[in-house]
Amino acid sequence: MLEISHLRKEFGKYAAVKDLSLMLFPGDIFGYIGPNGAGKTTTLRMLATLLEPTSGTATLGGVSITREVERARPMIGFMPDFFGLYEGITSWEYLDFFAAAYRLPRGERKQVIENVLELTDLTGKRDANVETLSRGMQQRLCLAKTLLHDPLLLLLDEPASGLDPRARVELKELLREIGAMGKVVIVSSHILPELADFCNKIGIIEKGEMLLTGNVDDILRQLQPARRLSIRCLDESERLMSWLGSASQISEVRSANGTVQAQFTGDDNSQAELLRQLIADGFRIVALTESSVDLEDVFMQVTKGEVS
Ligand SMILES: Nc1ncnc2c1ncn2[C@@H]1O[C@H](COP(=O)(O)OP(=O)(O)OP(=O)(O)O)[C@@H](O)[C@H]1O
Ligand SMILES: [Mg+2]
Repeated sequence: MLEISHLRKEFGKYAAVKDLSLMLFPGDIFGYIGPNGAGKTTTLRMLATLLEPTSGTATLGGVSITREVERARPMIGFMPDFFGLYEGITSWEYLDFFAAAYRLPRGERKQVIENVLELTDLTGKRDANVETLSRGMQQRLCLAKTLLHDPLLLLLDEPASGLDPRARVELKELLREIGAMGKVVIVSSHILPELADFCNKIGIIEKGEMLLTGNVDDILRQLQPARRLSIRCLDESERLMSWLGSASQISEVRSANGTVQAQFTGDDNSQAELLRQLIADGFRIVALTESSVDLEDVFMQVTKGEVS
């Protein structure tokens, strides 16, 4: 378990991270989202023991990241946003170099390297020179390196930047697998939609302050309490529209693309009741769906300070 309490970092007079508190559990994939300069990298560097906080604490499985640096380090894997790869060596040699540097027992190294290559889908590139790998492959190789010592906490700074859509999907799947191994994963990005569909928790940071944090679903609900319902019905839409017009918790009824759409402010129970009544009143409903929230809008709303 990772417990961050009142973490703060000042650079001179400027506070890059202010009073950050957060609790994460094994299997959590936390999306750390904020615009440029928000304090994401500063936070991750503190959690990676590379930067000393001005105040506050962070503990991982009972070990203090801030005070027991030597004990904490083997439990943490950090992938920076800019990573240097070495030239003139193969993927295997690169990983073997770091496995040795991390003091993995000689007898286990081969198996561990094979495992991380397999996990990151680079087995076929084990003998390729690292500079001949594509950017997405280099990123995965860097992730493989970060996983060598089997860290409990994985810190990934903007891992999806510079990846094409396919590589992003592959990265998502890889991170899901890693989360399922019971690690705590923190992934940063400045794009909310990039993270929302594979993180279970998110936090939005701006100017060093966490504006909002919680379960992805809760946050989306909180930001858009009214659901947009879309109903496809075999009967005339006028009758359905006037029925909805006089129903409670419903507003903004309109027809679009062969469906009737409306804003609905009820919860799951009242939505089920609404559907039951529609059917009881003889409407032949083909589908009733909730349309998804536009995450980019949510992010703009939060960072404009419209949500507290
Ligand atoms: N070593 C440093 N000395 C002084 N100021 C710093 C230092 N490192 C970061 N800062 C400042 O702290 C703030 C937060 O920077 P940080 O790199 O954490 O942002 P970020 O959220 O990672 O941004 P980006 O999305 O651009 O990577 C910025 O205003 C930056 O200028
Ligand atoms: Mg950064």
